[in-house]
Amino acid sequence: MSKLSRFIREKVIKHYRIKGKNNRIFLKENGHLKPLTGRLKGLDIEIVGNDNKIIIEKPTRFDDTSIRLTGSNALFEIKKTKYEILHTFFAIGSKGARVFIDEDFSCAGAKFYLGGGDFSSLTIGKDCMFSDNIIIMNSDSHAVLDNKTRKIINNDTINMTIGNHVWLGRRVTVLKRAKIPSNTIVGLNSFVIGQFNKENTVIAGNPAKVVKEEIDWQR
Ligand SMILES: CC(C)(COP(=O)(O)OP(=O)(O)OC[C@H]1O[C@@H](n2cnc3c(N)ncnc32)[C@H](O)[C@@H]1OP(=O)(O)O)[C@@H](O)C(=O)NCCC(=O)NCCS
Repeated sequence: MSKLSRFIREKVIKHYRIKGKNNRIFLKENGHLKPLTGRLKGLDIEIVGNDNKIIIEKPTRFDDTSIRLTGSNALFEIKKTKYEILHTFFAIGSKGARVFIDEDFSCAGAKFYLGGGDFSSLTIGKDCMFSDNIIIMNSDSHAVLDNKTRKIINNDTINMTIGNHVWLGRRVTVLKRAKIPSNTIVGLNSFVIGQFNKENTVIAGNPAKVVKEEIDWQR
């Protein structure tokens, strides 16, 4: 390891809890990547594993937010935003996980539990607005077994997608395999379980169903 990379690594470790090899955290600004050496205001990071990468594009506005990576070979990337990301916890455990959050994401409080099979992913489009008490889970956290064969039946690779300009109302839960298309509003207290394809709708209820069509929304 070169003197410079040892210096950067020691600086990062001082500010964040990082255990394992080849874990890298980058800041992106004006298209350029540079290793993070200080602490980003409002953001905690914990990595336990190897070969994980986090890329955070500036400007950011975190408060009481943490990213916890416990697998290996994961890539977590969040693009610049003019809005606040508050009281949010990302727990990412699967091997080769891919998390991508596009520009202008805002969140008033969420827990992301991203496990699932190897190379599971979560993609969130541009200009999404998540309210508070949101839960996003792309795995069940514990094994479900077929009782006869004793094989685990719930460790598939899960690719969860949330389109551009999606508003999740307060206390929304999004479960594995869900797909939410662009320009959707998800009503307060709803459980999104299935896949939705039609844009510009309100979906709501448990399980969520389309309750209104041809809508749009603004902040
Ligand atoms: C989703 C929402 C914005 C839709 O508002 P709207 O377009 O005015 O919708 P409507 O009140 O016309 O409701 C349309 C239908 O969906 C149903 N519906 C709306 N929200 C629902 C919900 N959260 N759960 C179950 N059904 C719901 C209504 O009962 C109505 O059913 P009907 O057609 O059988 O009468 C609103 O219902 C909502 O959930 N607001 C809270 C948003 C929030 O969490 N804000 C916090 C700050 S981000």
